[in-house]
Amino acid sequence: MKRNYQHGILIGAALVGMMGGSFAALASESDIKQVMSERHESFEHMGEVFEELSREVKQKSPDMVRIQQDVSRIDVWAKDQVNWFPIGSGPESGIKTDAKAEIWEQPAEFRALQDEFIVEAGVLKTVAFNGPGDDLAAQTEKVGEVCSQCHETYRKQFSLFSIFGF
Ligand code: HEC
Repeated sequence: MKRNYQHGILIGAALVGMMGGSFAALASESDIKQVMSERHESFEHMGEVFEELSREVKQKSPDMVRIQQDVSRIDVWAKDQVNWFPIGSGPESGIKTDAKAEIWEQPAEFRALQDEFIVEAGVLKTVAFNGPGDDLAAQTEKVGEVCSQCHETYRKQFSLFSIFGF
């Protein structure tokens, strides 16, 4: 009797576990959609701000207020992007994305690049708040190299073929 009773508890626990699991999966599916759409928006926004910054730092008399605003936003995005790639938000989601499966297959390598981005964006902010100077353009370029380095490995590359659906 005692054995059966224990068995019943185990089966009950397993059922509750399964139900809990499927509810969690439902909830996270819409979360994933949300995360992916926000990720797209944030990267797009960051691309615009970074482009503007890259132009501004090369000016003879750069607008430091604007630059400081830009680098502050990039610094916030850099710290935030570690939350933009939860498991399940890759190509397997079935939602359109340029994020490659390698992000989740090589989590340590990907995380190292994310951390490098945080560090270099932090340095950029410090440099920008120190005032204009040669190192501002140099550090902006350095951050740009981290962007490219990550894109080369972890973002699907645009190719002419993609226009034709290959
Ligand atoms: C650690 C990796 C990593 C770093 C660092 C990184 N990106 Fe990206 N970026 C990605 C990935 C992955 C995608 C594709 C996201 C997707 O489609 O879901 C992307 C997408 C983009 C896009 C396309 C947005 C869209 O969907 O239309 C732009 C623009 C962009 N990144 C700009 C930047 C800029 C500018 C920087 C640096 C200031 C940067 N990224 C740093 C990984 C990175």
